[in-house]
Amino acid sequence: MQQLKNIGSVYCGTGAWNSLNAYLAEKHHSRAFILTDTNTRVHCLPKLLDALSFDKEPHILEISAGEQHKTIATCMKLWNELSRLNADRYSIIINLGGGVVTDLGGFVACTFKRGIDFLNIPTSLLAMVDASIGGKTGVDLGSLKNQVGVIREPSLVLLDVNFLDTLPSDHLRSGLAEMLKHGIIASEDYFDACINFEINTAETEDLIWESVLIKHKIVTEDPTEKGLRKLLNYGHTLGHAIESYFLDQQPNAPLLHGEAIAIGMILATYISSEQLGFPKESLEKISSGISKIYPKQSFSEEDITTICKLLIYDKKNSNGRINFVLLKDFDDHEINCEVPNSLILEAFSYYAALS
Ligand code: GLY
Repeated sequence: MQQLKNIGSVYCGTGAWNSLNAYLAEKHHSRAFILTDTNTRVHCLPKLLDALSFDKEPHILEISAGEQHKTIATCMKLWNELSRLNADRYSIIINLGGGVVTDLGGFVACTFKRGIDFLNIPTSLLAMVDASIGGKTGVDLGSLKNQVGVIREPSLVLLDVNFLDTLPSDHLRSGLAEMLKHGIIASEDYFDACINFEINTAETEDLIWESVLIKHKIVTEDPTEKGLRKLLNYGHTLGHAIESYFLDQQPNAPLLHGEAIAIGMILATYISSEQLGFPKESLEKISSGISKIYPKQSFSEEDITTICKLLIYDKKNSNGRINFVLLKDFDDHEINCEVPNSLILEAFSYYAALS
């Protein structure tokens, strides 16, 4: 029997392919463009082409894999290609890939001819539980993450956990960070379950789906991030700055998004415990759980100074003020918290002392 989970425009399970084909049959798009990257073209496109029923031959677009290609230059290449191929307003872009493909492909679709239809088929864990849900699209500006973009929901999101079979383990770990975040901000039980997350078990799809439900509830209540949605940025204020810092250190391998966010969550939870009384035993549980999964990074005083300077680019800032999301407990938060620099430095010392 085909399995189907559905909330809003998100479909998950083997039955989701029928929902996708029904959507395409109903809309009669003039052309379908499938956006892949160099990895998903090899590992995921054959499965999509097998399952897809579309009355015309889809055209395959390809970008290079990796965060460093999430740029306006890559968009230019795609806009030009769409134009050269006579894509019209009734075309659809099917984004097949991780967060870079869904964010960038969504942005290209939202802006080409002032907006054409698009849908997301996330193939990484990160994109399944976070990037493909909630309509955030965009590109980086140099090493600064997601500075240019728009919010528009894809018409449909299709989750098929079988795509995870070919995902490298560091990318699985990266996506897991966002699931752990959903646990920290919404449910301690879910955090506990995710700490032992594995793929290819009976629970894999259910755990991923729970993340989708947590995120979906928040973005439905606050789609444009006026308040509640900022909660999804837990750990991202310092996490994004750390990620940008590592991107700037190229040619050293950059930290994956989730690896940076995992550090950001330990720092934010330490700050929460000092500033809002987040329980110490829960801080210890989060820190030791995360430390067991993610490789430890070391930061010199100079690194920390540079990272703190990058905080001025955070998208939650207002009037030059850096606004943190902090927690009083699991599932009890405060947005727009100002944090003294001395406490940020203390948080880095706490992280450095973790075994
Ligand atoms: N990744 C955070 C959000 O979608 O709001």
